[in-house]
Amino acid sequence: MKLFDVYPLYDIEPVQGKGCKVYDTEGVEYLDFYGGHAVISIGHAHPHYVKMISEQVAKLGFYSNSIQNSLQTELAQKLGEQSGLTDYQLFLINSGAEANENALKLASFYNGRTKVIAFKKAFHGRTAAAVNVTPDPKLVAPINKGFEVEFHELNDIESVRDSILRGDITAVIIEGIQGIGGIHVPTAEFLTELQAICNATDTVFILDEIQSGYGRSGKFFAYQYAEGVTPDVVTVAKGMGNGFPIGGVLIHPKFKPKHGMLGTTFGGSHLACAAGIAVLDVMKSEFLVENAATLGNYMMRELAKLPSVKEVRGLGLMVAVEFPFNVAALRKSLVFDEKCFIGSSSEANTVRILPPLSITKQDVDSLVEKMRAALVKTLEKELA
Ligand SMILES: Cc1ncc(COP(=O)(O)O)c(C=O)c1O
Repeated sequence: MKLFDVYPLYDIEPVQGKGCKVYDTEGVEYLDFYGGHAVISIGHAHPHYVKMISEQVAKLGFYSNSIQNSLQTELAQKLGEQSGLTDYQLFLINSGAEANENALKLASFYNGRTKVIAFKKAFHGRTAAAVNVTPDPKLVAPINKGFEVEFHELNDIESVRDSILRGDITAVIIEGIQGIGGIHVPTAEFLTELQAICNATDTVFILDEIQSGYGRSGKFFAYQYAEGVTPDVVTVAKGMGNGFPIGGVLIHPKFKPKHGMLGTTFGGSHLACAAGIAVLDVMKSEFLVENAATLGNYMMRELAKLPSVKEVRGLGLMVAVEFPFNVAALRKSLVFDEKCFIGSSSEANTVRILPPLSITKQDVDSLVEKMRAALVKTLEKELA
């Protein structure tokens, strides 16, 4: 059997990782400032994470959601404490798309409506409802177009307000910081007003923190830069498991659960919870949210000094660098000449930088030097 060929591949195979470094089959070291699409939060092969998962799989990896599982309760307790959302309720699933799928379902159960507001350049996942609120028509199959969606400009409160006030919107879904779209940050005023209009119309306000959450922005959730905002639903995945597939829907106390309303076979398994608890333990004991804030500021200042940079934007360790040219050659040179991974975005001129939250100042300096070297090579080739 062959693999279904949907991914363009770099001809490299990382087989081992440690902290923010990965190693290929020949033992060549790469600096990982991408974390496998913003997934690696506490660093590759962290000893506490390895121990917790290894011990749990040797005891009980999985049973079912019809029995007591105190690991789920411990995860919910720790997540509530560390995020500040102590009175929210947690529903566990396996991925980001599933988190948004369930968030949208919950909204529609809650107010009985079906129309959704989302934003241009957004990405919310590939499953039926999640992809329908993603504005890239290449990703949406005819079968996904099951409900009406309006896409508005990010930060344009006037246009969103008029739509919501018509009273037929079930939910507004917005990324804490737009990720794949090129790292665009909603303003605090926009989020605050959006929340107020949603509250006034009983529209469900969903914060997709799948990429921007779990400390990446320098706060536990990126929306927490907008003081006083309390979303109805927050969705998480990616950094939550540091590579183990786990996602979560954090649900405001105003939503009352009913047995059978939501469900999953694999979500919240013993093994997934052990991974999720290990991540939260390390984030707390190593002050990774604070590290993301401090080193993010430093990294943005240093990146802005590189030649040809048009703009550096983002928060914490969720950063974009925009250039006045297509960045494909720059990324290629970074991988093959400088042995360094960073990410692309849907904007051809913009790279995304999403390292593990455990990086050091030396790691940032190393990235900046590698970027400088790759830029010089790329610009020389362009001029030749
Ligand atoms: C903001 C955001 N939402 C949802 C998703 C979908 O997550 P997953 O690929 O785990 O389904 C992603 C993935 O990149 C994302 O960045």
